Order: sequence, then C-alpha cells, then structure tokens
Amino acid sequence: MRRATITGWGKCVPPAVLSNADLESVMDTNDEWITTRSGIKERRVAHVETSEMATVAGAHAMAAAGLEGSDIDLLLVATCTPDRLIPSAASYVQRDLGLGTAASMDINAACTGFIYCLSVAGSMIESGAIDRALVIGAEKLSAYVSLQHRPTGVLFGDGAGAVVLEATDADEGLLSMSISSDGELCDLLSVTATGTSYVEYEMSDPTIIMEGREVFRHAVTRMGEAAEKAVHDAGLTLDDVDMLIPHQANVRIIDATARRMNLPAEKVYVNIASYGNTSAATIPIALAEALEEGRIAPGANIVFVAFGGGLTWGAAAIKWGARTTPLGTSEAALPPTDKTALELLAERPRQEAV
Ligand SMILES: CC(C)(COP(=O)(O)OP(=O)(O)OC[C@H]1O[C@@H](n2cnc3c(N)ncnc32)[C@H](O)[C@@H]1OP(=O)(O)O)[C@@H](O)C(=O)NCCC(=O)NCCS
Repeated sequence: MRRATITGWGKCVPPAVLSNADLESVMDTNDEWITTRSGIKERRVAHVETSEMATVAGAHAMAAAGLEGSDIDLLLVATCTPDRLIPSAASYVQRDLGLGTAASMDINAACTGFIYCLSVAGSMIESGAIDRALVIGAEKLSAYVSLQHRPTGVLFGDGAGAVVLEATDADEGLLSMSISSDGELCDLLSVTATGTSYVEYEMSDPTIIMEGREVFRHAVTRMGEAAEKAVHDAGLTLDDVDMLIPHQANVRIIDATARRMNLPAEKVYVNIASYGNTSAATIPIALAEALEEGRIAPGANIVFVAFGGGLTWGAAAIKWGARTTPLGTSEAALPPTDKTALELLAERPRQEAV
C-alpha cells in the first residue's frame, strides 16, 4: 500500500528569549501565575518575518531527507501569521529554497494548521498525485500579542518546524489522519484588527482575544477524542502508542489528554516551558527536538494531536521508519541580532505604548 512517510525534519527558533520575568517588568502578571496556569517559562520573539523562519526550518528538513529543491512537488505552510496576505508565506519559501515550480500555498487552521497540512499532503501522496511534499508550520505570533492584554499576552511565541513527506510502499508512515472543525464556536478565539473586517474591532492593533476557559474545555475534550480516533483508525490500541506529540497550548491540556490516553510522562513530548504556544509550529518543532534528543525509536508509533481557533482540531497516527538521524545537514540560519526580546516587542509598529 502506498503511504506517506516522514523522511526529513527541522526547526528554526529565533534567538531572542522573552522570560516570564521580562513580562513581569512590562505587564501586571507574574511567573507563578503563568507557570501554574500554562506551564510556560519563556518564549521566543522573532527579529525576522515568518517566511524566513519557515525557510530555515524547511532547509534543515530537506537536508535531513537528503533532497534538493527540485525534488519537492508540493510546499504547504501552515500559518495564521503570514508575512503578507499576498503573496503567501509559502511563495517566499518556495523562492528562497529554490523549489522550481512546485505548487505552494498557505493553510490557515490556526493551531491545528500543521495537522491539516499533513493530512492534505499525505492524502495527495497516497493518491499518487505527488511523490514528495515539504510541510512547514511557521508563526510570528508576537505580531498579534498585546502587552496591554494579559490573558493572551503571556501565552504565545515565534518559531517554525518542518517535515518532508515522501511516498513509500514500506509498512510505515501516516497510518491515519483526521481533521475537524466547529465554526459555531469561531468567536471563542480570534485576532482583532486584521483582514477585511478590521474596522469592526475596538482594539486598533492586531490582538489575540480568547474566551480562555471555554477554549480550554473544548480543547481537553476534542484533543482526547481526536487522539483516540487516530489510534483506533490506525488499527492500534492505546498501549501501542510510543510517543504522543501534542499541540503545546497549555501543559494542563496536555496532561489531561495524556491521562485520558493512560500514557506515562515518558511517552508524552512537552517543550511548552521553552517556547510557549507557537500555534501551527508547535508539533514540527517538538518532533524535531524529540528526534534530536533520541526520544523516537525506529518503528515507533507516534500520535500528533492539535486544537485551535476556528475551532479546529485533528490528529494523525504515524509509524516511524528505520532512520532517526538526518541524512545530511544544512548551514541555513537566521541572520544574527543583538536585540533583546523586549526591544523587539517595543519596535513593533503598534499604537499601544509598550
Ligand atoms: C488562557 C488560560 C491559560 C487562562 O487560565 P484560566 O485558569 O482559565 O484563567 P482565567 O482566564 O479564568 O483567569 C483567572 C484569573 O487570572 C487573571 N489573569 C488572566 N491573565 C493573567 C496573567 N497573564 N497574569 C496574571 N493574572 C492573569 C484573570 O484576570 C482572572 O482573574 P479574576 O479571577 O480576578 O477575574 C487557559 O484558559 C487556557 O489555556 N485556555 C486554553 C488555551 C488553548 O487551548 N488554546 C488553544 C488554541 S491556541
């Protein structure tokens, strides 16, 4: 049976670190609240645009798969923070990675975007429409964060992660994928002052607003359901799961999902303390780090599960292949910066005082 398997992986996190102590210095919040409510200790603030982080992560993923730009048939970038609306972030990445005439587009399913892209690219590979895809999750959420709105101002960060998917006839790869949404709940999480309806909002700068408790409640239910469905559809049992790589929005949501699946801590990958919620980038960043740390064994059964604005959710079950080390490496890196995270936030073109 023709399947889509992950053969390359990579990440790009910008260097400027925004700690909880930094936030305490500019906002009415504290490390204790942020840590106990969300599990976040620090996050990154980008000095570059979304597509530049996506390009670096994509270059590492292609090198890890041993591929050239001309080998890629399809590029999908999962993002809700593209550099511009036209061209797509994917168009910049397509150019900068030299992907020839590969099809390219952005997909916005908020924090579930990477799973949506994986599902689209995986299905196109399984159908025989394409042989190889580069799938990137990349976000610059610092553009949508207000330091005057503490409920969401402490949660989000910037970064990118990428995978290469290739066709295989081996008994490995994407075993099941499911994506869902409920538009009736679309107002629970949104970004003000963006898009064609920007004038409707009172806040003049783009700002993530969220009914936190309601989103939390839906996230716990939907992530558990989606992960269990992915396991079942793959013909596996919960005992067969070797690693859960969940969306990193709140450590309490991750813990609840793991408890429901009866998974011990060593089978759950958590890096939210270091990066906060990087939306569509969380899962590919976490996958790259899990591989770097030797947490993924050859043949491992891995479950990805995510939840986000829309509301959207989805999951995928994957049987990892034999190789857990990259075929090659890339020199790709972001340009250096001497600026601190707080300096970068203060430089943003916003009307609010920082
Ligand atoms: C956002 C979230 C961390 C907030 O945690 P919570 O326990 O629900 O907290 P609440 O929003 O009810 O706020 C509790 C109190 O903390 C206060 N508070 C809010 N943000 C704060 C901050 N940054 N620092 C200090 N206090 C804060 C509130 O004002 C409130 O005070 P009050 O009780 O005096 O009114 C949590 O709801 C969450 O993770 N939601 C889901 C996020 C998610 O899944 N997103 C997925 C898609 S991105």
